[in-house]
Amino acid sequence: MRRKIVAGNWKMNGNQAFIEAFISDFSSLVDPEADGQAELILAPPLLYIERLRGRLAQTRVKVSAQNVSAYEDGAFTGEVSARMLGDLDVPYCIVGHSERRALFAETDQDVVRKVTQLLQEGIIPIVCVGETEAERESGDFIEVVTAQVLAVLDGFSETSALASMVLAYEPVWAIGTGKTATPEMAQQMHKAIRVCLASRSEELAQKCPILYGGSVKALNAKELFDQPDIDGGLVGGASLQAEEFSRICECIG
Ligand code: PGA
Repeated sequence: MRRKIVAGNWKMNGNQAFIEAFISDFSSLVDPEADGQAELILAPPLLYIERLRGRLAQTRVKVSAQNVSAYEDGAFTGEVSARMLGDLDVPYCIVGHSERRALFAETDQDVVRKVTQLLQEGIIPIVCVGETEAERESGDFIEVVTAQVLAVLDGFSETSALASMVLAYEPVWAIGTGKTATPEMAQQMHKAIRVCLASRSEELAQKCPILYGGSVKALNAKELFDQPDIDGGLVGGASLQAEEFSRICECIG
């Protein structure tokens, strides 16, 4: 059985007061004794990761970074390395989010370098892929997304190196827009991604959780998560609301 995951990506939002208010609502909503099958994750801005982790200690929710340097160490002002994340026992890191690709010119090659750095430190990469609105309208959206997945696979001589990887399919046109892919549209892409993984490794295809992201809310989460190839969600805006996010977490079990 594949791992089920709900991850909240706070992006560049929040401050110390926000964390305190969020946690006081959220921790009473997330049952630490719940069956614990699904992995629950929050990715705050890096500066707040320790504080949030401390406040989540009584829950089963783990923290994630939102980005990492493609470089190991050295003169890279402003960067934070995977080794540093590993030093602080950060268990997950989002990589290749469409905002990083579009606003910070991150390429597939950068994504491979970042995933490589993370895996060296035993950190689980949550690798984001997805098509733009123009790419969807062109009809080539499956090729676009599977090419992003293949670029990651091709970066590793052994697919077994990617055994811990999590993928997140996030159609760019659905991020922060309130437009969600229908469960059928999302399932079609998730299935295509799984077939693409299987073209390199059947084991990886069976094992790799593929999350859906793009305007996930409590109202639409369950029907998305019920699709056979959707293993959970990567949630942006709705993860900033404690009650809404906890209701989304409940949809995964
Ligand atoms: P959204 O963002 O849920 O606000 O659409 C998703 C994401 O960017 O991960």
